[in-house]
Parts: sequence; C-alpha cells; structure tokens
Amino acid sequence: MLFPTVTRKQKYFIGVGSVLTFLLVCLWMTSNQTAPPISELAKTTSNNDHYLSSKVIPETDLPPEGTRSLFDHLIVQNGGIVPYPYSKLIAMLKEQNPAGTEPISLLIPNGRSLLKGQADNAHPRVVTTADFEVPNNGANLGFAPRGQLFFGFVENGNEIEVVSYNEAAGRFEFQLVQDYCKDCSPRIVYARRAICSTCHQGGTPIFSQRPWSETNGQPATATAIAAGRGNNDPYETVPISQPLSFSERFDQLTDVGNFFYASQRLWLDGCGEKGNDCRRKMLSLAFQYLDNAGSFNPNSSEANELRKLQEVAFATTDIPEREVKDKKYTPLPMGLQGAPEPKKGIIVPESDLANRDPIGEKQGFKGWIRSLFTREIKFGEGARDNEDLSSFEKLPPLRRELDPLTIRQPKQILGPNNIDGVYGLASFFTETDLKNVSEQNGYDIKRIITKIQTLPNEVFDPKPFSRVLILQALLGKKQYCCYNTAEMSPPMVSGGPPLEIKEHPELQAFVDNCFSCHRGNPAKRLNFMGGATENEVLEQIKAKKEIRDALDWERYEGTDKSSKLMPPRNSVQYRKLMDAGEEGKKVLQKMRDTVPGFFNF
Ligand code: HEC
Ligand code: HEC
Repeated sequence: MLFPTVTRKQKYFIGVGSVLTFLLVCLWMTSNQTAPPISELAKTTSNNDHYLSSKVIPETDLPPEGTRSLFDHLIVQNGGIVPYPYSKLIAMLKEQNPAGTEPISLLIPNGRSLLKGQADNAHPRVVTTADFEVPNNGANLGFAPRGQLFFGFVENGNEIEVVSYNEAAGRFEFQLVQDYCKDCSPRIVYARRAICSTCHQGGTPIFSQRPWSETNGQPATATAIAAGRGNNDPYETVPISQPLSFSERFDQLTDVGNFFYASQRLWLDGCGEKGNDCRRKMLSLAFQYLDNAGSFNPNSSEANELRKLQEVAFATTDIPEREVKDKKYTPLPMGLQGAPEPKKGIIVPESDLANRDPIGEKQGFKGWIRSLFTREIKFGEGARDNEDLSSFEKLPPLRRELDPLTIRQPKQILGPNNIDGVYGLASFFTETDLKNVSEQNGYDIKRIITKIQTLPNEVFDPKPFSRVLILQALLGKKQYCCYNTAEMSPPMVSGGPPLEIKEHPELQAFVDNCFSCHRGNPAKRLNFMGGATENEVLEQIKAKKEIRDALDWERYEGTDKSSKLMPPRNSVQYRKLMDAGEEGKKVLQKMRDTVPGFFNF
C-alpha cells in the first residue's frame, strides 16, 4: 500500500496532487530548451570583418601562411612522429619539463565533448595539459607551453584532439591526430574550426567549473572508473584517483589560454589600426607590472594615458548595427554568438561551462523522473570522429544550461577604461624573460621603460602580439623552438580525400608501410610521399633515391648504416613485415624495385 494511513478523501487529493506534480515536472522537462543542432551551429560563419583583429587574425581552418601550431612544432622536433600509445605522449611532455614532473592529466568518463559516446568508465577520456616553462639560455628562448597546449584523447575514437597556440598567428589551432591506434597510421590534420567552435566558442580552450564532478578529481567518479576498469591501475599512466587540485589547475590553465585571445583583441582592437603608441604604452605597463606586481598602480598617470589612447581607438572603431533576423541563430562573430553585441566593447569569451554531475544526476526523485525522459548513452554510440555530426545529433541532448553547444554570454565586456591588456600581455612572458630584460637594463625599471620607448615604431604595428618578436626586439636575435616554419611541410585539412590506389598498384606497399610517417608529416624533409595524386606520389618516391637503400635490410643490417633502415625497427610497420617472414621480404624488394637503382646512401 502506498498511503496506508490516509483517508479516501486525502488519497484523492494526494492522487490529484501527484498527477499535477507529474504534469508540472513534464512541463519543466520539455520547457528546458535544448541547444540548436551542432550541424546548424557549425554552419554559422564568423563574419567579423569590421574588427581589426579579424583581419589580422583570420578564422581559417588552416593556420595563416608561414605560421604553425605549437603541436606541429613539437612533433617536428620529435622527428616527425606522434608518440604512441598516449602514455608516451604524456612521457614526452614530462621529459621537456625541467622539473621532470608529469603534465596535468584528468580522466573524464562521462563528459560532454564531441566524442562523448566513445568514452565510459572503462575507457575514460583523458585530457592533458602542459604546466611548465623552460628557462631561456644563451641564444634560445625557452619553450613556454603553459596555457598553450591541450590534448583530449578517446581511446575508442582512435583520435587525439589538440588545441595548441600558434605564436606567430596569435590564435589557437584546432587539430586532430586521426587513426591513432595500434598498428594504424596516424595522420595530423587541422580540424574544421567551425565544428570545434560550436562548443569552444571564442576559439579557445573550455572547461567546467568547480567542483568538476565529471573528472576523477572527485572520489565518486574515480570509484566508478575503478569499478568500470575492474582495477585501480593507472590508465595510460594517469592515476585513477587524483587530488581535486589537478582539476582546478586544468581549469585555471584553460582560463589562461582563453585570455590570450582577449589580450590579442585588446592589443589590436583596443588600440586600433594606428595605435602604435597605445600598444607601446601597454607593453611598457606590462613590464612595470611584471617587475613589481605589488606596487603596480592601475591608476598611475601612465595607466591613464593608456586609457586615453584606448578611448581614441574605441571611438573610431565603427561597429555597424547588425540585422538581427533570428535571435537564436544569427551568425555572429566567434565568441559573440547570441550575446547582445556591445556597441563598443571587446568581449572575453566564456570558457567556463557549468559543472555537470553525471553520477548525481541519476540519484533522487529528480534523477528518477529524468531517467523516464532521457535515455542513457550506450558506449560506442554517437560520433566516431570529428566529422560525424549526424551521429552526434542522435544522442540524447543535454539540458540547455549544461550543454556546451548552448551559446554562452561573454565572461566580460571590456571597454576603453579597462587596462586588462596590460595583465594579458604580462601573462605571455616567462620568469626568465623578465630576468633577461632586467639584467640587460641593470635591474632598473626606468631603463626598461626607456628601452621600450626607443624600440622602432614597426614593433608596434597592428600585427598579432608575439612574446618571441617582442623579446627579439628587446634582447636581440633569439631563437624560439616553435616559430619558424621553413622546414615544415604544408599543413593538411581534415576530411581531405585519402589517396585511393587505382592506377599504380605498386603504391599499395608504401601506403601500408610508409604513409603513416611520410605522408602528412609536418616536417617537410619527411613528407616525401605527400603528393595529391597517385602519379605525384609515384614521382616523389622515384625521385627519393635513398629509399632503395633504406629498404635494403639484407645489406645494411648490423652495419653502421642500420639505423637508417626503414621502416624503423621500433615501428609497427617493421614488426608486421618481419612477422610476415618471406612474404615481408618480397614486399620490401617490390618497394625497392619501384625506385630506380642508384647507389646513394
Ligand atoms: C559538443 C561540444 C564540443 C565540440 C564540438 C568540441 N569539443 Fe573539445 N571539448 C568539449 C568539452 C566539454 C571539453 C572539456 C571537458 C572534456 O574534455 O570532456 C573539451 C575539451 C577539449 C580539449 C581539452 C582542452 C580543453 O579545452 O579543455 C581539447 C584538446 C579539445 N576539446 C579539442 C577539440 C577539437 C580539436 C574540436 C574540433 C574538432 C573539439 N574539441 C570540438 C566539447 C566539445
Ligand atoms: C614509424 C615511422 C616511419 C615509418 C613507418 C617509415 N619511416 Fe622512413 N623515416 C622515419 C623517420 C623518423 C625518418 C628520419 C630518420 C632520421 O632523420 O634519422 C625517416 C627517414 C626516411 C628516409 C631518409 C630520408 C632523408 O631524406 O633523410 C627514407 C628514404 C625513408 N625514411 C623511407 C621510408 C620508407 C620507404 C618507408 C616505408 C617502407 C618508411 N620510411 C617508413 C620514420 C618512418
């Protein structure tokens, strides 16, 4: 019996009451609008042309000519190879860290990313970010990936998502490592930016807020992962249980990255096309802040001068009135989508998502009601890769306030009175950057200010702000690991047609054994199978005489040339060929025969 001690009349009221409650709950559930479908959102173009920043920093899928992502630079330095498995990528970042500590990684079994259906407690998504800076030495500026390098890995999606900063272009790049799996041939491509920015609104990293219930910083989530995996062993070297401070730090670093974007806009739009003096002042104040944050006076006469210069720029930035046809879907500029566009103001995109608690959601009365209306995502459902939007759309939608697709209001709107650009610029520099500049000027801030005042005018031209260029101007020629692209192959876009072998069957062995490292390799030197057509690739292979010798295992095995043999001894391609025994030898010979004979090792 449901209500054993009540009268009939009371029962009647309780009955009506619960039906009413039930109807109200239904109404509440259905009135919770969901975000527009991702395929619609991905179509909205970021037509933002009236801003100086959008001319200087375009929203193209590929990085602007002559610039590349931090990730591409890292891979070139790693000999053109993306470490596999993922734990080795983590190890690579650890090795670069002077403190020798692991990068920050979190496990997210039930998240809200594009590949959410491919992760669960047994195969959680892993996100990783670097949290260090390498000191400058001699002629080299130290590698500074803090807030600039983020990975998302979903084992079942065979893919790594990468968000990394492009120093020369002043923007984040969105990339994918596709076919990232055992015995596969990984490819690095630039993703369709419009797809990524449906959730990464503003073109920057995003993350949930305290208490980060989706992450393994929360004991309940860690416990669920351990149960799902059947043990407590680390996953890809990431401990199943971690302190919540890791989740907090990850969140902070996404915020740091997010503000790089706002800083670029303050540098460009905040100062304007002819605002070289304004940019010079901003930099000068940034060094004063770096030199002594405690005694920095945001209302000093110099700070007020910056405000005046910004006012001029804001007054001349003519932001045209926009025709708002459909309030919900208007294609507004990136980061401004759906927000009331300020007549004069620079928006800081909202990188924080409301916390979601996938475990708590299922508990209690509300959880029970919800379970009647929403079906669970089954493992393996939804998008298998980042192009597969229609499968993503078949997944049950999230509540609007939790959905990363829902258009977020800006975190902040900055006006001419705001001097956050000063702090923003300061955040690009490392500890030894300041030390070097101070050293050079006798640890005298007045001399640093004078130095900045005497820098040539073109240093402050309306171009993306770059830590590297500014330090080169201040300290003389210095090299940075991740700036020059001369030795890099052209970047590739996602969804480009893979090479289908029809005319030249002899190419198939190269597809199987070599393409993963020599086609689409960001290092130009190693991209010698990157041609667009079968004929082009065949010509490239024939022209690469070294291939003949590189495949001659019989001759060079055990000699001082053996390290040049291909495929490399530690690769899966090599192992497969060896496992194939005589058949493998024949394949090697056939490949050799494709290249005209010529002794050239
Ligand atoms: C449907 C929404 C959605 C789309 C579309 C999306 N992401 Fe994300 N992404 C997220 C969410 C939510 C997070 C943070 C939590 C997590 O990883 O589960 C995230 C995190 C990331 C991270 C870790 C760093 C960070 O920002 O927290 C990377 C790297 C990443 N995404 C790359 C990409 C790339 C590349 C694309 C485009 C191919 C993309 N994402 C598209 C929702 C999305
Ligand atoms: C797992 C990745 C990988 C695979 C697979 C691979 N290579 Fe390489 N290859 C490399 C790397 C890395 C180098 C550069 C080695 C160095 O600089 O010491 C290289 C260098 C070469 C070179 C010398 C290039 C130069 O100009 O110095 C040739 C030729 C070559 N590979 C041919 C092949 C052929 C043919 C195959 C297929 C049978 C193949 N490789 C498969 C990674 C790979």
